[in-house]
Amino acid sequence: MVEVVVSATELWERLSKLPRVSLGTFPTPLELLPRISELLGVQVFIKRDDLSGLAFGGNKTRHLEFGLGQAIHDGCDVVINGAAVQSNYCRQTAAACAKLGLKCALVLRRLTEVEALKVEPQGNLLLDYLFGADVRFIEPDEDLEAAKEEVANEYRVRGHKPYVIRHPDLSGGFGYLVCLLEIVEQCRQMGIEPTHIIHSSATPTQVGFVLGTKALGLNWQVIGVAPFNRDGVKERIAEVSNLVAEKLGLNLRVTPQEVNFTMEFAGEGYGLPTPDGIEAMKLMAQLEGIVLDPVYTAKAFAAVISMAKDGRLTNKDTVIFIHTGGTPALFAYQTVLAQALGLPTGAT
Ligand SMILES: Cc1ncc(COP(=O)(O)O)c(C=O)c1O
Repeated sequence: MVEVVVSATELWERLSKLPRVSLGTFPTPLELLPRISELLGVQVFIKRDDLSGLAFGGNKTRHLEFGLGQAIHDGCDVVINGAAVQSNYCRQTAAACAKLGLKCALVLRRLTEVEALKVEPQGNLLLDYLFGADVRFIEPDEDLEAAKEEVANEYRVRGHKPYVIRHPDLSGGFGYLVCLLEIVEQCRQMGIEPTHIIHSSATPTQVGFVLGTKALGLNWQVIGVAPFNRDGVKERIAEVSNLVAEKLGLNLRVTPQEVNFTMEFAGEGYGLPTPDGIEAMKLMAQLEGIVLDPVYTAKAFAAVISMAKDGRLTNKDTVIFIHTGGTPALFAYQTVLAQALGLPTGAT
């Protein structure tokens, strides 16, 4: 028996009391992938969070609705975020700030060992500039949080009130509780009973799904697929889930043992595409006309394919694959992808 801690209506109400701004177009579609389902012998639906409506879409639109809601609530006028050079979060932060009339400063980490993560103004980085962000770079070994704080201080000295986005904060957890509630309603309307939710995870998105399924008493397996090899993620997901639960007054606790997070499909690490991921991108593109990204969603969908092939998913299962976005990064990976597609690269 799975215990119900809160009803969907009550959870909506608690979430609606938090500061929030509208940035995206929701609910995003939930659609069957008919040709992929037939090929894999598993019913697979896709939740199109790549169509979330803000600057090429993606999961961070949901995070930012709560994060920037808090920034505006606190009277801040500049938002500081930071991550790798091709960060989807930073691109969406820059776009959201433009839409809300806030200044945006981004601290981007160069990853010199990854061709696509140098400082070519391509993909997400090109868009950061287009949205008018104040872009700074740090080297691989520099402390990102300290660098963000330094930029915030610079703005303070100039009379601004900065809002620093810290990773992970609770906003992604709130955002993905909302996503889960959307899915519950869409499944009711479409008569679907999912057995699995599978998605790319670096913590906050999975927090929403893990906490939400537990709170609503849903017997759905949530599988987070890592884009990197990093220790302690299950612990962090449990910890952030418990902070979100506390903030929403939910009487439950998530333990690391309850978190299904796998690094099996991460390959050599963050930002490095895998052969299985590229095959997954080709399959999704050529059977369904949908674009995945090489860093996150390709690895996550490679997990669905692999689990269908080795019997971890069967024809009794109904999977909802969450498309978390990231597609602008595709263009920073032109060389790798062109090679994988057997195309000539370089000047002609
Ligand atoms: C496209 C994409 N998918 C998934 C993730 C992981 O999301 P989260 O950090 O909310 O777990 C990210 C994070 O940057 C992302 O950009």
